[in-house]
Amino acid sequence: MKAAWTSPSNIALVKYWGKRGNQLPQNASISFTLKNAVTELSISAQKLASQNKLSLDFWFESSPNLKFKEKIEKFLITQTARFPWLLNHHLEIHSSNTFPHSSGIASSASSMSALNLCLLSLDELYRDKKYEQKEFFSLASELSRLGSGSASRSVYGGIVSWGNVSENYATPFSDAHAVFNNYCDSILIVDEGTKSVSSRAGHGLMENHPFKDERYKIASANFTKIAHALKSGNIESFIEVVEEEALMLHAMMMTSRPSYILLKPQSLLLIEKIRAYRTEKSIPVCFTIDAGPNIHLLYPKSHETLVRKWIDEELAVKCIHDEMGSGPINIEARK
Ligand code: PMV
Repeated sequence: MKAAWTSPSNIALVKYWGKRGNQLPQNASISFTLKNAVTELSISAQKLASQNKLSLDFWFESSPNLKFKEKIEKFLITQTARFPWLLNHHLEIHSSNTFPHSSGIASSASSMSALNLCLLSLDELYRDKKYEQKEFFSLASELSRLGSGSASRSVYGGIVSWGNVSENYATPFSDAHAVFNNYCDSILIVDEGTKSVSSRAGHGLMENHPFKDERYKIASANFTKIAHALKSGNIESFIEVVEEEALMLHAMMMTSRPSYILLKPQSLLLIEKIRAYRTEKSIPVCFTIDAGPNIHLLYPKSHETLVRKWIDEELAVKCIHDEMGSGPINIEARK
């Protein structure tokens, strides 16, 4: 049995920051799925004569990778009740990212969603029965969520929300205004190093955060506000929410106990330049930030040429250009 999928990363507009129970979000979140930043993952499963435990080899970018293997093994062990065939097949998993390893683009969303899409495709082969398409993707989203919360949103293209329709899985956000079609995300790379505090630890620190109740209240209000803005094409309101969310995420980190700072001086310089450019040129660029120092510059496709020229000439920073994409692709089925 063989399955292979590419699955993209995504960038949150309203942030998921803080969880409870089994990877359930404290507030609804919404994101743009990216186009170029994807993980390509394949699994070959070979039937074993007699075996009652997980057996797997894992390659990342053509080299065996023990650290990633252990992470995946841990996740697969939690899924053996759903996929009993995991215990009597040897798995060979190959994974690679289209984006540079050290770019600061989160890879857990793309890799966890690619992994779970492959598991469900293998399950279809094993049972010789297809899932109904809607069920396939909502299950893929639910399983991906258990690996990494934000991964739940990567199984769909376009704009995707999680925690409003269901806390268990994400759903595509429909009816967005055409101005948000193919929205651009140019990722300004401030630091390529790994983060000093993981997202897992960051979520954990929200449990006793002095401002947590206010944060979850504002996040819910921001979700409602951005949903309106996306539907009506109100870019001003979109920008207000997106930048507030980015800064509030980092404010939460700075006021956690213990506190930590992931932004760098250059992150703040870029934020100032983005706001000044928006005011001076009346071009609706805005920024969002993940759990790291890099700045995601968001803007409508119609301003791409001008904005790219400005990035090249004025920002003097390494940049990876991406935009909204249409979601995962079953590459084994395409062969
Ligand atoms: O999916 P996790 O557990 O890595 O958390 C993601 C957290 C943020 O990227 C900061 C926000 C989000 O909603 O993606």
